[in-house]
Amino acid sequence: MNTLFLTQILQFKKNIYQKSDANPDSTVWIWSGLTQALKMKDILSLKIKDKSFIFNRLPKGQKVQMNFLGLIAFVWISLSATTISAAAVKLVNTRAEYKANPIGIDVLHPRLSWEATTDARNILQTAYEIKAALSEADLQAGKNLIWTTGKINSGQSNQVKYAGKELASGQRVFWQVRVWSNNDNGSPWSDIAFWEMGLLNASDWKAPWIEPAVNVDTGKSSPSPYLRREFELTKNVKKAQLYITSHGLYECHINGKKTGDQLLTPGWTSYNKRLQYQVYDVTASLKKGKNAIGAVLGDGWYSGYLVWKGNRNAYGKKLGLLAQLTITYDDGTQETVSTDSQWKSTTGPILESDIYNGEIYDARMELKGWDNPGYDEKNWKGVVVLNEDKKNLVASAGPPVKAIQEIKPIKILYTPQGDTVLDMGQNMVGWARIKVTGKAGTKITLRHAEVLDKKGNFYTDNLRLAKQTVQYTLKGIGEEVYEPHFTFQGFRFLAVKNFPGTLKLENITGVVVHSDMPVTGSFECSDPLINQLAHNILWGQKGNFVDVPTDCPQRDERLGWTGDAQVFAPTACYNMDVASFFTKWMRDVEADQFKDGSVPWVIPDVIKQGGATGWADVAVIIPWTIYQFYGDTGILSIQYQSMKAWVDYMQKQTGSSYIWTNGNHFGDWLAFATTNSDYPGATTDKDFIATAYFAYSTSLLHKAAAVLGKKEDAKKYETLYQNIKMAFQKEFVTSNARLSSSTQTAYLLALEFNLLTEAQQQMVAKRLADDVKKFKHLTTGFLGTPLICPVLSKYGYDSLAFMLLKRKEYPSWLYPITRGATTIWERWDGMKPDSSFQDIGMNSFNHYSYGAIGYWLFTRVAGLSLNNDAPGFKKISIHPVVGGDLTSVAAEHKSMYGKIVSGWKVEKNKFTMNVVIPPNTTAEVFIPSGTKENIFENGVAVSSVKLIKFLESKEGGQVYLVGSGSYNFEVRKN
Ligand code: BGC
Repeated sequence: MNTLFLTQILQFKKNIYQKSDANPDSTVWIWSGLTQALKMKDILSLKIKDKSFIFNRLPKGQKVQMNFLGLIAFVWISLSATTISAAAVKLVNTRAEYKANPIGIDVLHPRLSWEATTDARNILQTAYEIKAALSEADLQAGKNLIWTTGKINSGQSNQVKYAGKELASGQRVFWQVRVWSNNDNGSPWSDIAFWEMGLLNASDWKAPWIEPAVNVDTGKSSPSPYLRREFELTKNVKKAQLYITSHGLYECHINGKKTGDQLLTPGWTSYNKRLQYQVYDVTASLKKGKNAIGAVLGDGWYSGYLVWKGNRNAYGKKLGLLAQLTITYDDGTQETVSTDSQWKSTTGPILESDIYNGEIYDARMELKGWDNPGYDEKNWKGVVVLNEDKKNLVASAGPPVKAIQEIKPIKILYTPQGDTVLDMGQNMVGWARIKVTGKAGTKITLRHAEVLDKKGNFYTDNLRLAKQTVQYTLKGIGEEVYEPHFTFQGFRFLAVKNFPGTLKLENITGVVVHSDMPVTGSFECSDPLINQLAHNILWGQKGNFVDVPTDCPQRDERLGWTGDAQVFAPTACYNMDVASFFTKWMRDVEADQFKDGSVPWVIPDVIKQGGATGWADVAVIIPWTIYQFYGDTGILSIQYQSMKAWVDYMQKQTGSSYIWTNGNHFGDWLAFATTNSDYPGATTDKDFIATAYFAYSTSLLHKAAAVLGKKEDAKKYETLYQNIKMAFQKEFVTSNARLSSSTQTAYLLALEFNLLTEAQQQMVAKRLADDVKKFKHLTTGFLGTPLICPVLSKYGYDSLAFMLLKRKEYPSWLYPITRGATTIWERWDGMKPDSSFQDIGMNSFNHYSYGAIGYWLFTRVAGLSLNNDAPGFKKISIHPVVGGDLTSVAAEHKSMYGKIVSGWKVEKNKFTMNVVIPPNTTAEVFIPSGTKENIFENGVAVSSVKLIKFLESKEGGQVYLVGSGSYNFEVRKN
């Protein structure tokens, strides 16, 4: 019925055009009437009785243009509005466990989500129906369904748990969903989506581990082993799935081609407890007859250099491979090709490869055809077959690492010291692809650096022991294209040595590598320096979200520092879809958590120390953050024991005093330091910080327990929190609301973690403001910095927050930008005003922690934030603050419900706000500087727009409740 109707409209449009060919003016005229009529359908579909609302929505002047034919069309379409709008809700972005059509998941009841799209306003889902089957044909025919929900009256479109038949290893489930809304008769079914289960039991792994029988000196980097095996398939292949993982990193090849586009597989986890496998659909790579499968292995995080002391072999000394290729023939019979004694091994052109140090590759040693059938492997050695259990194998939960984008160098420089250096124009993480022609044996060396020193020379001292060097020896046959395999570098500058002929920009491409997380946020405003800051924050995230959230991507560290991750997590959630990235990493937090509940400094734990306040709290803070941003209660329940163990650990440390005075802490790491004897630096007492975080994590645990319906725990941790708060006030707060540490960070923690009485709050906020005024800059380190602008804003000091944001001198966010930064620096003065550098022991130019200001840019400057009453942006709060001399701001965030937009613009006689709210959500919109009378929406007085509900007048503006749709608010100045 709907399709028929739409076809009629299309035909109608066509007729109108054809008939009016002779008179172009009438085309516009008639067309305009029809277009208006089409627009009307969504207005009418909202069942609006108020006609003035309808007509006021017409763009000015067009009402009178509607001719007779247009009018008929208008009436015709209007009368059918309900029918059209029923077809207008379309479901998109159907995902399982945050992924589109994932293969190889081991969550037994995957969580499904979908988004509705429609231009109509105020659309809320009222019901949904899901059906699932084991084949597309069955799903379409509605036969043999393994799950059918029937019509469920619910607004839930996210985190809907599969509750059908128990699933077995390797099963692919096809599913569809349709919804009903407050305004239609049901959407069409979504396009068919699927997910596929991985290997759910250790016993599903029939293949044994193998190790190459090549000699290796495990005390240093050795040539990468190559492994191969041929096999014959006797029939046509219907489906082939490869399950594969390794000790070390692997690159798999089938019949001459690399399998898939994932990089640095199997990723980095706490290998001994959790080793990820990947699943590839390799149906198209196989053929009837002879086939070859092979793999190259690299040391990677498993046995390469890791942690800064030149340590190796963190997880084991020998590289190994485990692969199981399950082939289903057209006739339904199955065959498996696995790692076994028939594999052969050797070494080849990769002479050394290491995460920190780079790669040495001699193209003359390439094993031409090694990954194709028919290759002569007579000089290859055998393999050692191991009898190892598979209990630590887990499916890959996070997004895979991939080559996400490419950038071209912007110029070639010749340094005073004689280096030829390419400037990529962007501090990036990944590697350089070289295109070169030259004589066999020519050795090209690429060194990587983030900055040049003040004389313009290539600067690598801050890399510490990481060589970050790639060496390529030409084979001398035609044009050679090379990129490294098992390493990545953090660099903007590339020193190229011994390039044959003249090096040109087109010889090098920067390949940007990170976890494949969709970008979900953008922030732009009228100040180019702040835009560069937003850019730097995003690039800090790209560079440091390479399978685990790392502190830095360049020096001999690159570790999953927990404190850095927790302070940056909310900003990370705005910028990119990090739900599955953190889901995966938090499993390692739990896996590596110490028996007594203490949490390691870094995850995966390769340092074996932990319990630092503000760092270990990651166990509680990130699950809570993911719950808030994605409405994900699953992560709370999965991590609950880990969250609890950390809080219980702290309680044991503090006993009945509730004041935490022992342990090793980093404190407010890298806070402002000075040699000024009058003010020796902004050092916040560690006992103060530790007790504040103890309270904070306890308060979040209390909330998590409440969300999960764990009433007893909720009560227990609420009481504990109150006890800590009381003890905190007694110990650290004077009767006049002075704090024992008079630092910005101390004020911030006390305020943000709600550790003061109401009366004390304003006094402490004023002390904070006074301190900021006194210094005219922030003095905070890793723990205080994320809070400073949000807390100043919360207590009415927006102008001070803007002052901090806009400051260009050290210490500030914009200072590095005045020095040309394209990523966030580890230290406020990584490069000092005189262009000398900070201490080489710790000076990364790509560290995301201070990028946590991104959260305030989104939530306050753009005013796009969560409403804590309904997590996951089911309810949205739009509350921008105009300040900092900005004249416009535009921000977007793609939530689980779709795109949210919040933008504002100050113009001569008006202030405008552009807001987009996705279907199935509602938003409270604060319109600054307006009185009820001078606010208009799409040219209509807001008070007469029925679907915009006035809520309250607040200081400085008005608050409205709106449903989904696009809104153009305007505050007219008298
Ligand atoms: C890292 C930091 C980390 C810190 C802890 C440093 O080496 O780069 O980001 O949080 O150690 O002290």
